[in-house]
Amino acid sequence: MRTRILGLSGSPRTSSNTAILVETALEAAEREGAKVEFIDLSALKILACEHCCECSKTGKCKLDDDLNKVADTMKAADGIIMGSPDHFASVATPLKNLMDRTGRFLHLEGKVAAGIVVGRRSGLDLALSHLLFFLLVKEMIVPGAIYWPIGFALNAGDIRGDTEAMAMATQLGERVTILAAAIIRNPMPWAHEPRPLGQKVRFGDEWK
Ligand SMILES: Cc1cc2nc3c(=O)[nH]c(=O)nc-3n(C[C@H](O)[C@H](O)[C@H](O)COP(=O)(O)O)c2cc1C
Repeated sequence: MRTRILGLSGSPRTSSNTAILVETALEAAEREGAKVEFIDLSALKILACEHCCECSKTGKCKLDDDLNKVADTMKAADGIIMGSPDHFASVATPLKNLMDRTGRFLHLEGKVAAGIVVGRRSGLDLALSHLLFFLLVKEMIVPGAIYWPIGFALNAGDIRGDTEAMAMATQLGERVTILAAAIIRNPMPWAHEPRPLGQKVRFGDEWK
């Protein structure tokens, strides 16, 4: 079975620098033998979370947009590479909405993941922290690259000039694929622990 690697671009604009980095990672994943899929959130409608908590009971979001389809694709992937532009030192709204809306019901534990951030100048580390916090609380396994995966660019396409960021995207694509393939052969036990919907933290035998 081929390793399935999903790339998600969280930029609100088309042909974005984020999409270029994520697609670069996916090209590397494909070279490593993965079956890859790319989702550009700028082409989809992902509304903001309304904090109704219905997803905790039903396992899906009640809002009528593209979120549940993206969640299904994430669930089917062995590895997920998430990219975002730095917007005021945080992730951009399309990706933030996706995090907020899937965070409570979508089980991603034991999958491999990487986060990549692109910005003009400042706040990239904070934006990357936001992204990594999500991946870690979703109990995903995050490989490092030779340097932090951030890229510098302003206008769409400029990121191609940041050769270091392009190389890191390639490296992450390779590492996510190699690690995901190893985990398929030797799955993490916590990926199969039964968990009640919407109740994330276990204290002894009790879920809270
Ligand atoms: C709403 C908004 C907020 C931004 N905030 C920052 C910021 O805090 N720091 C920064 O360095 N760049 C910031 N930028 C610039 C973008 O991060 C930069 O243009 C990046 O290349 C966009 O990536 P994209 O092409 O993937 O959308 C901001 C851009 C927008 C539209």
